[in-house]
Amino acid sequence: MNPVRYGVIGAGVIANYMTRAFTEGRGSIATVVADINPAAAQKVATASGAPKVVTDWRAVMADPAVDAVYLATPPFLHKPMTIAALQAGKHVCCEKPFMLTQAEVRDVIAAQKGTGLHVNCASSRYNCAGTAQKAKQMIATGELGQVYHVSFTQVNPPTKPGATLPDWRNDPARNGGGISFDWGPYDLDWLSFVLGDLFRPQLVFGALGNYFPLTAERVPPCLGVDGRYTAQIICEGGLTILWERRAGEHGPARHSIELRGTKGGLDTYFMPMPEKSGMQHHAYVGTEELKTTLLPDAPPSWEDAIINPVRELTAAIRENRPLTNTPADNLRIHGVLDALHASGRTRQAVKVAE
Ligand SMILES: NC(=O)c1ccc[n+]([C@@H]2O[C@H](COP(=O)([O-])OP(=O)(O)OC[C@H]3O[C@@H](n4cnc5c(N)ncnc54)[C@H](O)[C@@H]3O)[C@@H](O)[C@H]2O)c1
Repeated sequence: MNPVRYGVIGAGVIANYMTRAFTEGRGSIATVVADINPAAAQKVATASGAPKVVTDWRAVMADPAVDAVYLATPPFLHKPMTIAALQAGKHVCCEKPFMLTQAEVRDVIAAQKGTGLHVNCASSRYNCAGTAQKAKQMIATGELGQVYHVSFTQVNPPTKPGATLPDWRNDPARNGGGISFDWGPYDLDWLSFVLGDLFRPQLVFGALGNYFPLTAERVPPCLGVDGRYTAQIICEGGLTILWERRAGEHGPARHSIELRGTKGGLDTYFMPMPEKSGMQHHAYVGTEELKTTLLPDAPPSWEDAIINPVRELTAAIRENRPLTNTPADNLRIHGVLDALHASGRTRQAVKVAE
């Protein structure tokens, strides 16, 4: 079977982590790397085995030796590059956030229609975690009964003192938002993957707050964008999701997800964290006290999660396998993100557009 030949566009931080996907011998190879910074492009080309470097991304679209593109540019470039790729007959793996708005997702869906091309977003990278797979399976098989509530709380540590980030990170016009667009797509993708058809968001009531200095010495590099959000998501069918993410606060980092159903509860976590002891299943049995069982889980390595979206796209193309993230999923994900920001502005509950 022929390998899928990738054009990499954007050779910054994440593209450098993705290079292993093109050298590990699982059917993905890189043939060209594009970046406005030729030295950055050359570094990623060398690490990924790509024989060619260009500074104009449009050259990748015109290249017959490219079957698929991996887009690792800042978010405001995702829509024009995804649509140009589809028009050029290339499959797309786009970094998160997929787009800046739900309207942009609609434009991509219109461009994809009838092409037979695959498009996925790297917000799906944690779907390969043993924890996510197990939670999905327990819900799908009814082991938890009817799932009526999810509590999803994630707290990221602060950036190291003196850390700097590129300008686009502090500009909502170029990134859509701060932590809400940086990490929110991961959260919502996880929920969409694990909950399946139960994830039909209808209403969002939420608020956002900006990053702030923890001390005079610990000033985050992005003060102009949101650094925390808290929201209630009400789904069709009555499922409630309490969704919170915070970063750089006076408290420890935390990744906790509580799923509650009519037959059992499951405590799990989101990221591949091998140091964690596992998932916990809770249930009352007869008249006994609450029984908590530690479930075995096999979280993948961090490196596997990083490259999983390219692996998934390659498998979808070569083996005709469905993707765990599609533009239809991103329509829902970006509907929630739009509604979160609208709710934050209006202090009202906002209906999620379909
Ligand atoms: N940094 C991370 O840890 C991380 C992790 C996961 C996903 N992401 C996502 O990946 C994307 C890129 O993030 P990053 O941190 O690698 O950003 P970055 O700023 O480090 O890299 C972006 C690269 O895109 C290049 N670029 C900008 N405009 C271009 C153009 N017109 N044509 C070609 N190249 C162009 C820049 O020169 C730069 O090398 C973002 O969507 C981000 O959310 C980042």
